[in-house]
Amino acid sequence: MNEVQQWAEGVSYAPCLPDEFCGRHEERERLLALHSRSGGHGQAVMISGPAGIGKSSLLNWLAYDLQDHPDEPRSPVIRAEVFDLPGMIFSAFRELLKDLRGHAVSERFRDILGSEGMKEAIRYADDLLEKYAAPVEPVGLLPKAGEEIIGVFARSPEVEYDRVYQAFEELLQELGRLMVGSGHTAAVLLDDVHLASRPDCRLLLDTIRDLPPGIFLAFTCQPTDGADPGYAAMQEEIRDRGVPEVPLQGMQSHEIQEVSQRRFDLSISSVTAAFLEEAVGDPFSLTACFNTLRHRGLAPSSENIGDLLAREQDPAALAFAALPEFWQVWAEELCVLNPPFPVPVMACMLDFKGMDVTLMMDCLQESAIFRRLPGGEYAFAHPLLQDYCRRRLAEDAKINLNARAADCFERSMHRLPGRLHVLLSLASHLFNARDYRKAADLNLELGIRFYHREDYDTALSLTERAITSAERLGDDTLLAAAENQRDLIRQKIASLVRPVQ
Ligand SMILES: Nc1ncnc2c1ncn2[C@@H]1O[C@H](COP(=O)(O)OP(=O)(O)O)[C@@H](O)[C@H]1O
Ligand SMILES: [Mg+2]
Repeated sequence: MNEVQQWAEGVSYAPCLPDEFCGRHEERERLLALHSRSGGHGQAVMISGPAGIGKSSLLNWLAYDLQDHPDEPRSPVIRAEVFDLPGMIFSAFRELLKDLRGHAVSERFRDILGSEGMKEAIRYADDLLEKYAAPVEPVGLLPKAGEEIIGVFARSPEVEYDRVYQAFEELLQELGRLMVGSGHTAAVLLDDVHLASRPDCRLLLDTIRDLPPGIFLAFTCQPTDGADPGYAAMQEEIRDRGVPEVPLQGMQSHEIQEVSQRRFDLSISSVTAAFLEEAVGDPFSLTACFNTLRHRGLAPSSENIGDLLAREQDPAALAFAALPEFWQVWAEELCVLNPPFPVPVMACMLDFKGMDVTLMMDCLQESAIFRRLPGGEYAFAHPLLQDYCRRRLAEDAKINLNARAADCFERSMHRLPGRLHVLLSLASHLFNARDYRKAADLNLELGIRFYHREDYDTALSLTERAITSAERLGDDTLLAAAENQRDLIRQKIASLVRPVQ
């Protein structure tokens, strides 16, 4: 991107590239020190902090420093991200395996990772991860209409959790053995584990408990507002297991000066930096402030910044208002989708066809508010922007966009690889579009399947959608069935709550 374009768009809200990463020196040293300890025994670390504080950027820097830094010995890094679509089973773990498979055949790591044993362990673990999720997915090609989905689900589960865990554990042991043998450490990086569904949390926690030598596991986690007891329990377990934590706080004034200089080419006084440290601190808000100043042609003084913040306290709103108008339109039209966004669905939402789809992808690549994911899908550059766009949608627009999204998924599902993502997306879009007949059937059916897969949180929220749908339809038989299913799930959840000792 040339400089003129970049200033029109603003600096991207995506996780920062390693060469623009500023400050955080203590945190970086701590991570590297923990990494260097992973030879004798496996080492895990949790990077924590609120949205926009810089967790994903720190993970980017870590990946670069461990794997790509020209002056350091290189360690293979495998990484994945958990997205905000409850119910996705093991998709982040499968992403990790995909990276590992890539390394095993790469010129750089083939010599240490390319053994037949390693490749076989990857194949086996991947097969089990896929099979575990299969019972909640339909068999074969998805039919085109939502209502036809019911009845074509796979048979009862064949792979139990213990086998999945064992296969993953054996894979890590093989990886660790190869690493220790060649004097390396493999780094496994997982972003946003607070969004992980129950089976993924379980696999993560079990993996942490028995991390083999030669493996370094760094994951990021964002404290939720206490509304999610599952998250709180997970964080407690992580602490109980003695996993060290690298908490991220607001940036200090010297770090803020570095950000403004390196990323925005702005020199700010130490007084302004101290004011920003006090008033803003997190790098997402800083980016929104500096982009807005640039957009409005204002000097970066404490006075101007104070004015901005007095008029708008939500940094995502500041960021959004400083975007070129056509990006605002695209953001609104795409915000109802669940990440990762498949290209055919985005194109359908924005009404692009043929060659224009390539054009759309080129534009997205340049944008400050979308980012391209390693698998070729897209997401908002930062989840705070997507949340903001969703919040400001009027009720009518929300219904219409969800109806369009459901239609787009139904049209393109034969071209989409992620069947579970398609099903869960459809279940939410149909419900939010108030297409209650289709929504009730699909959510109820998926609900019971998640119950059998022991993901009770997802099962409950899907079933609750079915209940609301049945109520709106005035269908008493359906309502009774959905309420029965909800009671079954609630009983199960209650029986799992540990008695107070
Ligand atoms: N150390 C840093 N230096 C420069 N920019 C940063 C830094 N950390 C984060 N940012 C920027 O701040 C924003 C939020 O960072 P991100 O890593 O996505 O936060 P989180 O993952 O905690 O939500 C991004 O736009 C990113 O580019
Ligand atoms: Mg992040």
